[in-house]
Amino acid sequence: MSARQVTLHDKSFSVYFPSEDIRLAVQKVAGEIERDLNGETPLFIGVLNGVVPFAADLLREMQVDCEITFVKLSSYSGTKSTGQVSVDLGLNEKIAGRTIVVLEDIIDTGLTVEKILNLLEGENPKTVKVASLLYKPDAFKGNYKVDYVGKEIPNEFVVGYGLDYDGLGRNLKDIYKIVE
Ligand code: IMP
Ligand code: MG
Repeated sequence: MSARQVTLHDKSFSVYFPSEDIRLAVQKVAGEIERDLNGETPLFIGVLNGVVPFAADLLREMQVDCEITFVKLSSYSGTKSTGQVSVDLGLNEKIAGRTIVVLEDIIDTGLTVEKILNLLEGENPKTVKVASLLYKPDAFKGNYKVDYVGKEIPNEFVVGYGLDYDGLGRNLKDIYKIVE
């Protein structure tokens, strides 16, 4: 059993989505992606660091051939987006003609994924889709569609299952929300 409440740095968090809910959300996303593939072998592009547990679980739910690579971007400091996205590790893969699915742990303002979509645009992919385990529609400012969403959540800060608060919490099996 995991703890109902955890403390990371100076803040407390309580369980929001237990691991079983997460598993079902990941299965749902994998099923939707597969349904749209039309026999293509997708290249997943995961956004480090937070996407690691989601990417690992999603990959193992896929019943068809697929490939994965990662990019690293950062925009968050503490519990807030800085509004600036920096690319810490870029793309090396051949993108031209590929079916791309960008994978995120959470889409908040949407700036991080927008930056990746802009990078991909010049590389002539066949199609680009976006999949995120969590999505905060009330915070979203992007000009693109989030094609696959595990769970929509209100504008609250969450940790666990890859998501961190200043580096901590990524190892938690459940997803927790901040106790205000
Ligand atoms: P966006 O660019 O504002 O969409 O933010 C995306 C990134 O910010 C995510 O990949 C996370 O790394 C981080 N982030 C956004 N919301 C949260 C949250 O509630 N908890 C932890 N990290 C978050
Ligand atoms: Mg992330």
